[in-house]
Amino acid sequence: MKVDGVSYRPIWEEGGAVRIIDQTRLPFAFETTTLGSEADAAHAIREMLVRGAPLIGATAAYGMALAMREDPSDANLAAAWERLHATRPTAINLRWALDDVSARLRPLPPADRAEAAFARARAIADEDVAINRAIGEHGLTLIEAVAARKGRVNVLTHCNAGWLATCDWGTATAPIYMAHDKGIDVHVWVDETRPRNQGGFLTAWELGQHGVPHTVIVDNAGGHLMQHGEVDLCFVGTDRTTRTGDVCNKIGTYLKALAAHDNGVPFYVCLPSPTIDWTVADGVKEIPIEARRPEEVTEVQGLGRNGVETFRVVSPGSPGFNPAFDVTPARLVSGLVTERGVAAASEAGLRALFPERAAA
Ligand code: MRU
Repeated sequence: MKVDGVSYRPIWEEGGAVRIIDQTRLPFAFETTTLGSEADAAHAIREMLVRGAPLIGATAAYGMALAMREDPSDANLAAAWERLHATRPTAINLRWALDDVSARLRPLPPADRAEAAFARARAIADEDVAINRAIGEHGLTLIEAVAARKGRVNVLTHCNAGWLATCDWGTATAPIYMAHDKGIDVHVWVDETRPRNQGGFLTAWELGQHGVPHTVIVDNAGGHLMQHGEVDLCFVGTDRTTRTGDVCNKIGTYLKALAAHDNGVPFYVCLPSPTIDWTVADGVKEIPIEARRPEEVTEVQGLGRNGVETFRVVSPGSPGFNPAFDVTPARLVSGLVTERGVAAASEAGLRALFPERAAA
């Protein structure tokens, strides 16, 4: 997608180096930085210079490649897997990418591993772009159906499941970008998404860059808008989807799904197949939920008179608690928009679209 008219992906190779957009600087500054080592890649994931499940996976794959450039031994292959895996616990794409790259490298002689790892990381990024394009095409049909009935389509989204969270297009945003590009009158309600404001900072920024009409709302406004017929569809992303269709996504997604269910608003989750964890059946009981620093709750960052400043927004001395994700049970999900089509949020629905997994 374009930034000030120039095409970017959130991660790319340039002159033998791995480059990323530093998302901690958005929306107030657009800065890119180099990942020169495995440690840089781990830092970028842990500190959220890159974030979003598919982009975390691609960055981890590049992290393995950088690790192999430093030391391609069997011992470092295993150790790099462990170090990168420890960066963030919830998005399953991280483990998926590390397993995928490791399995390809293990049989190779150490001298061949770095080149093979870079080639696979590149392929993972390219595959993600193709997957998201396909998700967009399937999700577009859902927007077109509403547009044919009533003209303007209001979509609500939570967090950032946009191109910044993937290798391009985004998952939840891919149908929106395609609808907009086709001339459909689509408007997006962007949940602010406290505490890190991925909606207000990142989704709003990228929709604005592409010229998609949008309005940022506080996280508590969605239910009210749904009661008043102001939301036609909800599209969100996911960090891990169980084989039974439970969806783990940014904290607050569950509350939006409850409100959508109560108001008869279709609630779709857009996901690439590497985000499905086929080993997990019960999302609430089995998915590890990342607890991040309480300061993300007690403080906010914003553009002040002296540039980007940090403000305390909670009574001094009061503690904060910061679970970063929640699980929406499959019964609240209208459908899972994947690269192979829209599946029912159930084990049967997912296995019908991915029959090779049924055999595995
Ligand atoms: O903590 P983050 O910013 O990495 O969380 C991102 C999300 O929750 C996204 O909605 C999810 O990864 C899907 S991204 C296509």
